Amino acid sequence: MKTWLKALPKAELHLHIEGTLEPELMFELAARNGVTLPYASIDEVRAAYEFSNLQSFLDLYYQGMAVLHTEQDFFELAMAYFDRAHADGVVHVELSFDPQPHLLRGLEPSVPFEGLERAMREAEQRYDISSALIMSFVRDRSAEEAMTVLEQTRAWHHRLAAIGLDSAELGNPPEKFAAVFERARELGIPRLAHAGEEGPATYISGAMDALGVCRIDHGVRCLEDPALVERLKSEQMPLTVCPLSNVYLKVVERLENHPLPGLLEQGLKVTLNSDDPAYFGGGMLNNFIACHDAFGWDQATFRQLARNALEEAFMNDERRSRLL
Ligand code: HPA
Ligand code: ZN
Repeated sequence: MKTWLKALPKAELHLHIEGTLEPELMFELAARNGVTLPYASIDEVRAAYEFSNLQSFLDLYYQGMAVLHTEQDFFELAMAYFDRAHADGVVHVELSFDPQPHLLRGLEPSVPFEGLERAMREAEQRYDISSALIMSFVRDRSAEEAMTVLEQTRAWHHRLAAIGLDSAELGNPPEKFAAVFERARELGIPRLAHAGEEGPATYISGAMDALGVCRIDHGVRCLEDPALVERLKSEQMPLTVCPLSNVYLKVVERLENHPLPGLLEQGLKVTLNSDDPAYFGGGMLNNFIACHDAFGWDQATFRQLARNALEEAFMNDERRSRLL
């Protein structure tokens, strides 16, 4: 089954590129850029990856990404990820990045954009992996700052597949960003948001109503509201579910208790994704294998999950029909 799952052409729709930073590269970039890390060794970094909730992960995630200083750093980060994604049988990746922490450290917007895009072009040539770029706003920072960043990055908007909304969910409901997402709609940019990971089901309906999203990242808490489940089903709203992430961040205690089988039984449009593979026990293939081990799904189920992702991907139709 592992060989079959590896060969299955997979599209990853929910991936934070800063969450692909492995400790080895973190140390290399820290040395290159003169950044002091609060760890003595790579093993110590890995040992620190014990999370009690989303916030405890975010603290390390923002600390880790501070080693990224140059276009070349972003290029190497993304290329290292594409190498692993190719080995996992991934054929399409939608990588999101958080511009705010990088801009706040003094980087120009061109640094992440140009570095990531060079890697995306290289991945296409080297591996025939297609990709799309998503710019995510940090929801525990102000809506005004997000609006400023949206305007400040106008020169790159034509290269964005979508904007997203991530980071600390509880206490930062989607409505906080209604004006920013309305502005993105006026500018013709598709919109996504994390919702219903740690936040309640009302954040999922809020993201649909106040932000006009075409996809929900996570969404696993929707089962708490049967009317919302009906709506998600009738609209076939895609949910980019991240099984191992939900275990590592204690959204569920064990994968066997994950609502995934229930989401599928309800006829929801579910996809499987890795979220932050360097922090949460591996990439796409590990997530697929973990689901096989936990739920005993057959090939038809995995084929449907992979198909859902290809159908919902920001990808040209000629490539989509070739892959489907
Ligand atoms: N949730 C919210 N924000 C994030 C995550 C996540 O899992 N990963 C990176 N930013
Ligand atoms: Zn995420």
